[in-house]
Amino acid sequence: MSLSGRKKEKFFGRVLELARKGWGDTHPNPMVGALIMESGEIVAEGYHQACGKPHAEVEALGSLGRKPNPGAIMFISLEPCSTHGKTPPCTKAILESGIKKVFVATTDPNPKHAGNGFDLLRNAGVEVELADEPTQVKAARLNFIFNHNIKTGRPLIALKFAESANGMVAERMGRPSSVTGKEARADMMHWRRLFPAICVGSGTVLADDPSLTSRLPENTWSPVRLLVDSSLSTLGEGVSPRKVYVDQFSERSIVLTTARGMLDSGRVKKAKEHGVRLIEVEESASGGVEPSCLPKVLSDLSLHAVYCEGGPTFARSLLGSGQVDYLFRYRSPKLFEGEDALPGPGLDDYPIREPIEEELGEDRLVHGFL
Ligand SMILES: NC(=O)c1ccc[n+]([C@@H]2O[C@H](COP(=O)([O-])OP(=O)(O)OC[C@H]3O[C@@H](n4cnc5c(N)ncnc54)[C@H](OP(=O)(O)O)[C@@H]3O)[C@@H](O)[C@H]2O)c1
Repeated sequence: MSLSGRKKEKFFGRVLELARKGWGDTHPNPMVGALIMESGEIVAEGYHQACGKPHAEVEALGSLGRKPNPGAIMFISLEPCSTHGKTPPCTKAILESGIKKVFVATTDPNPKHAGNGFDLLRNAGVEVELADEPTQVKAARLNFIFNHNIKTGRPLIALKFAESANGMVAERMGRPSSVTGKEARADMMHWRRLFPAICVGSGTVLADDPSLTSRLPENTWSPVRLLVDSSLSTLGEGVSPRKVYVDQFSERSIVLTTARGMLDSGRVKKAKEHGVRLIEVEESASGGVEPSCLPKVLSDLSLHAVYCEGGPTFARSLLGSGQVDYLFRYRSPKLFEGEDALPGPGLDDYPIREPIEEELGEDRLVHGFL
């Protein structure tokens, strides 16, 4: 059975939608969706729900609950795995199912494995067709964290910044400012849900007392919250308990500090009382937490990506030390022209390669790898 370009586009669109159901839950694995089509109709669907759980192809075959009919076609958002990991290879499941035609949105990003799944299927008599270029790009970008992890062997460090039209990040230090509108703020919540960790500097914790959770219409979720605080000032005398230390997710807050911070017994005691973990890292030349420690801290905690939300001082040091892989830059049409307005970290000096641009109400988001 030959499929029109429009039908293929529709089914690829659907497998990408299915893949997105695993948003934030599949690390260190990619998000993957699959469907089975018989006589032009979708008869079964599946997606990878979490690491250790069945892969999308196996989910789709399982939900069909019978052998696919002769002529059945499978659509998958990523090249099926051909090696034995936590679960058996998906190429084996496809071959055992008797499916003879597979459409795939994009190849395995691992250069060692790319194309192996296709070869294995083709050598066993299965016809394999790769999607057109725009669909391949869309499917690959969905798993930008996974792709980065596989290609570099390092966690992905992303930086998010919201700026006014004149490059300011707050109307005034010490008072939370609404830089962007509700659509952009909802979008940030969605990205927070994707990342297993979030990170801010002590200045933001002191000024804004943020909760750093992902507040979505369906639920509130917390990534691991990393707070960069060289002298434990956020636990200082006279500082009221910050939300990240006392809310329902406080066990997910970790403070990265230096030997100097660890010497302050009163502040260390306060962290213990709150049940907050402290990790001592190297001190930078300027007396802060050494930014190049971040990848190792993340790897030690089995965190494959972090969404850094600034503020500007910490962001400048992350950017300056070359730690930022991916940038989310929200731009508002507002102007913060008061003399107390706080300037951003100078993002014009860090151009994004192949930027993705989105309109969010009156604001714009540009994001992509640096
Ligand atoms: N528009 C936005 O997207 C956005 C996002 C976040 C924050 N903000 C705003 O930014 C303001 C806070 O700005 P900020 O610059 O003071 O906050 P910040 O960047 O969150 O925190 C700066 C503090 O982090 C600590 N730090 C530890 N290691 C560091 C390192 N390697 N490099 C830099 N800092 C390090 C330092 O304090 P110690 O020396 O005590 O460790 C430093 O003073 C607030 O008004 C907030 O509303 C805006």
